Amino acid sequence: MQQKKLTIPDIKNRKNGTPISVLTAYDYPWARMVDAAGIDIALVGDSLGMVVLGYPDTVSVTMEEMIHHTKAVVRGIERALVVTDMPFGSYNSSIPAAIDNATRILKEGRADAVKLEGGVAMADTVAAIVRAGIPVQGHIGLTPQTATSLGGFKVQGKSAQAAKQLIEDARALEEAGCFSVVLEAIPAPLAEHISREIAIPTIGIGAGPNCDGQVLVIHDLVGFYDRFTPKFVKQYTKINEPIAAALAQYKAEVENRTFPTEAHSFTMKSEEMDKLLQLY
Ligand code: KIV
Repeated sequence: MQQKKLTIPDIKNRKNGTPISVLTAYDYPWARMVDAAGIDIALVGDSLGMVVLGYPDTVSVTMEEMIHHTKAVVRGIERALVVTDMPFGSYNSSIPAAIDNATRILKEGRADAVKLEGGVAMADTVAAIVRAGIPVQGHIGLTPQTATSLGGFKVQGKSAQAAKQLIEDARALEEAGCFSVVLEAIPAPLAEHISREIAIPTIGIGAGPNCDGQVLVIHDLVGFYDRFTPKFVKQYTKINEPIAAALAQYKAEVENRTFPTEAHSFTMKSEEMDKLLQLY
């Protein structure tokens, strides 16, 4: 039976309700698995640059790549809300460019909403995109697109002054019209405080248990990305181990001719084979 698609109000209404589950998805098969598991938001994160495309960071990811992967994810989703990251450079140069690029993500990619990084500094841009009819999810704390300026992939908001700035960022995004905000790599007590201070749902990643929802990069969760695992990731399985074993077994069976067997082969009537041999 076709499942009812989640909407922005459905997500907003979960504030202080059942926590919102969010996972990244970058293609059709993973999107189908995320949706079948009942995950509420499928995030086409620009983390795809690192875990799928092999870039060293998220800065290189392009609009074309985000749209291409969004289309594949949308084809695999019935129920979850699909949110797509605006890549670095697609919203920072001017407000008209930001609106145009957010529009492309909805119109061409068929995402339900966009996500962009930054707080107070991005509030005017967020407000303009929202006025254009495009739902926006905010993202503050550790913002990977500008990690170099933040001193690397470090926990943010540890001092009272830095924490105050993050509270102001969260409030500015709420006022600008974000329907929710991702809090990445900030102390748990600060995330809890922000979650109480704003009326839109907070989605934590490395932000402790008291946010309105949680997000993880799916490749980290299943152990499919082995180059780096942040402290805040819980690896629920190591999917790369059975895959590596299967690939090694395949190679061995090809080399010793135990694959394919009759079970994986097609037959032909022997008369036809005899006729063939007489054809030349
Ligand atoms: O790109 C991404 O996957 C993200 C999540 C880590 C929140 O932004």
